[in-house]
Amino acid sequence: MATKYLPSDLSTIFDMSGKTAVVFGGAGGLGNAIARGLAAFGANVVISSRGEEKLKEGVKAIEKDAKGGKITYKAADAGKVEEIEAVKDFAVKEFGSVEILVCSQGFNRKHDIVEFDMADWDAMFETNVTSVFNCMRIFGTYMKKEAKYGKICIVTSVRDQIATFPGGGNAGYCMTKGALTAMLKQGATELAPEVTVNGIGPTVTLTPMMESIVPKEAQEKSIPADHPLGRMAKPEDIIGAAVYLCSDASCYHTGQVLYPDGGLLCKG
Ligand SMILES: NC(=O)c1ccc[n+]([C@@H]2O[C@H](COP(=O)([O-])OP(=O)(O)OC[C@H]3O[C@@H](n4cnc5c(N)ncnc54)[C@H](OP(=O)(O)O)[C@@H]3O)[C@@H](O)[C@H]2O)c1
Repeated sequence: MATKYLPSDLSTIFDMSGKTAVVFGGAGGLGNAIARGLAAFGANVVISSRGEEKLKEGVKAIEKDAKGGKITYKAADAGKVEEIEAVKDFAVKEFGSVEILVCSQGFNRKHDIVEFDMADWDAMFETNVTSVFNCMRIFGTYMKKEAKYGKICIVTSVRDQIATFPGGGNAGYCMTKGALTAMLKQGATELAPEVTVNGIGPTVTLTPMMESIVPKEAQEKSIPADHPLGRMAKPEDIIGAAVYLCSDASCYHTGQVLYPDGGLLCKG
């Protein structure tokens, strides 16, 4: 049954021993950092994405932090409903149940509004929104009806709140992230009280993918200057929020987004 109140032993509130987490995008920069955090607090972890070789590397990285849980993977395209179902069935068969879902799949293709490539628009909505909705729907139904317990954590972005300026091109991406934040609030109301649904909204973060895209000058000067905490985010900066939202520490917290953003959103 869903945890209503904090455990009386406060030293256990972040403990995820005996629980199983499925992390979509878990071989990617942010998803892998989140998976490492969940493993460090005892969870079994199944990471999933399309590329099998990256998943194998991702498992090795998580195993270094694991504290007793088993780490494994299941390749799947989250754009296909039957493949999401297969990941759920795999995790349930392997571990007996699934209590935690993290959705960290997503990407950005930038185009100015005046010349937006609508094929890229469709592709972004398909992965960033529809695949996440299907994960929330499939795992959320299982958690509410069968496991009677669930913690769902969706990776949105500060771009659900603010545009990029100067420098545009983010209309499609911002809209997908705004959609996720609206969606998780609705999910929180419909899947309660068994399941909590929350989000994490990172700012621009130096994942391996971003390292090759963001110019060195921006990494060292303009991005740190833009953030009150004075540096660029690393993937590890979102682990604390993820561990909180996926553990019983957040048992009275649902339908909200935590922003590990170095203070960016404070600036108005
Ligand atoms: N890095 C940032 O600055 C930043 C800031 C705010 C929010 N975010 C959000 O954080 C999330 C993760 O970003 P990241 O920086 O960690 O990017 P990343 O390293 O490229 O990770 C994205 C992951 O999603 C997987 N993926 C993409 N399409 C998929 C599909 N159809 N089915 C299954 N898996 C799929 C990718 O693996 P495969 O391609 O092998 O399937 C990859 O593992 C995204 O939602 C992104 O929008 C990132």
